[in-house]
Amino acid sequence: MKGKKLIDPSDLTTTEIEDLIKLANQIIQNEEKYSKCCENKLLATLFYEPSTRTRFSFEAAMLRLGGKVIGFSEPNSSSVAKGESISDTIQTVCCYADIIAMRHPKEGSAYVAANASTVSFINAGDGGHFHPTQTLTDLLTISNLKGRLDNLVIGLCGDLKFGRTVHSLIKAMSRYQNITFIFISPEELQVPDYIKKEVLEKNKLKYDESTNLEEVISKLDILYMTRVQKERFFNESDYIRLKDMFILDLEKLKNAKKDLTILHPLPRVNEISTEIDDDPRAAYFKQAKFGMYIRMALILKFLGIEVD
Ligand code: NCD
Repeated sequence: MKGKKLIDPSDLTTTEIEDLIKLANQIIQNEEKYSKCCENKLLATLFYEPSTRTRFSFEAAMLRLGGKVIGFSEPNSSSVAKGESISDTIQTVCCYADIIAMRHPKEGSAYVAANASTVSFINAGDGGHFHPTQTLTDLLTISNLKGRLDNLVIGLCGDLKFGRTVHSLIKAMSRYQNITFIFISPEELQVPDYIKKEVLEKNKLKYDESTNLEEVISKLDILYMTRVQKERFFNESDYIRLKDMFILDLEKLKNAKKDLTILHPLPRVNEISTEIDDDPRAAYFKQAKFGMYIRMALILKFLGIEVD
């Protein structure tokens, strides 16, 4: 995978994903062994949009591998504020760094950046489009907590229109056997048509749509909650009307399976009541931790570093 570029989850084959999950688990079991293997390597994190987990987990991953990190979390502190194009910024950063992770509010920006990059490039989220490293995080979490990536009924709830983590996860899971999706959202925030046509219908995937979480919760093996993506709305009043339509609380969990796994890419706003946090089915903070390990594995593979 040396020198590879990751824009969309399908840029990785299922075998490559399996290898990344395996390596992440080896790192979890023996972190010390990997703590110096990126000693002379530099990661650049270019964040044109806010982030806590993605940026920190990338940076923590590189630092825990013994590497170094440069970058910005606020584009106005770089030449972006002077009007520099993405392509010029990337070509410049390639002079200094060995691998780049970039988040940008515009869909498609990751393609432009990846084309300009002469080093490994990772899309850390491009607008409402894709977020492949969150998906790798989700896959490691599901694989470790469920013991499988097939034969699952997955409920995705919340903002399925603008949520890039949702689009990426659907795309990635569509390659495994016997996956059923249940999409739970207000009508205005349903999964976009291009995902339905190009991913779900093309691969003959089973899916249902619902506007009522309680009605479907008993069927689910995984419930993936998401925040309504305020920053992608054109109109504040629509956001206010839709933002609290789905709030998961203990009452709603009553009919859920005992071994349901509740995931959320975070940040949470209101959509999961904090009373759920102590329920053994709540796995979103474990998921955030897995995010660092899968990024450690990804950095090693993309830099072509083998540890035996
Ligand atoms: C997500 C994102 O940025 O798309 N956060 C994350 O990376 N863990 C989800 C969100 O912001 O709602």
